[in-house]
Amino acid sequence: METDASDDEGAEDLRRRIVHGRRTGHKLRPHARNLIESLLPHLRVPMPEPHPLDPEAVPPPLDPFALFTPRPSGLWLEIGFGGGEHLAGQAAAHPELGLIGCEPFINGVAKLLIDVEARNLGNVRVHTDDARPLIEALPEGCLDRAFVLFPDPWPKTRHHKRRFIQTATLDALARALADGAELRVATDIMAYARWTLVLAMRHPDFEWLARGPADWRVPPPDWVPTRYEAKARVAGRTPVYLRFQRRPRAS
Ligand SMILES: C[S@@+](CC[C@H](N)C(=O)[O-])C[C@H]1O[C@@H](n2cnc3c(N)ncnc32)[C@H](O)[C@@H]1O
Repeated sequence: METDASDDEGAEDLRRRIVHGRRTGHKLRPHARNLIESLLPHLRVPMPEPHPLDPEAVPPPLDPFALFTPRPSGLWLEIGFGGGEHLAGQAAAHPELGLIGCEPFINGVAKLLIDVEARNLGNVRVHTDDARPLIEALPEGCLDRAFVLFPDPWPKTRHHKRRFIQTATLDALARALADGAELRVATDIMAYARWTLVLAMRHPDFEWLARGPADWRVPPPDWVPTRYEAKARVAGRTPVYLRFQRRPRAS
């Protein structure tokens, strides 16, 4: 398959770079602002900090299961949840699981918090920043599923390095995902679908689960539509739903 996926970004570049895209939008309404101040501190994932006297020392690992009460039977991660429709919908459908969502855009975080409060969801935690340091802080093999839904397409060739799906992020996800766990990537941009397929199929730890066209043209049965997905359909773009399995680690 022809692709420009050779433009993908190395691990060094990824570590140096800060998150792209906007962090704030229109002024928040008072209720949303109130939730950011009162509810978010309880849901925020505390990132491991370097030791103040020994900044070079490896910080203690994050225990993602300890973030939830009761301890969840599994852990799912959503990267770039936007307004959080999918994250909240999956959390409501799976109260036994813990769901961690990453989203640097604060207006999207506020939308999620409104949903979390209205639906009384106790199994959602939030990282309001770039997902990559969080993925790196997770213990190996802790995730049962990860979602990257309608990532920013960055269509210009010189911006391809900003795309979330890169070999380095697939490496990081492969480390954090359990054997047999699923990575779902959805996009309405065919160039991004090709990019993802090339990088994931080239990656030793992922297997594309599609056996026929329906497997990527039709959303999985437990799908919760997202805001961006709805906008894409209104604009006449048909999304694709790519499901990859994390191959078992060699024993
Ligand atoms: C096109 S929007 C899609 C939002 C949502 N998934 C949906 O389908 O409606 C992409 C989202 O990814 C977020 N994003 C971009 N880079 C990110 C990163 N490095 N870590 C976490 N989220 C990121 C953006 O802030 C944006 O909200």
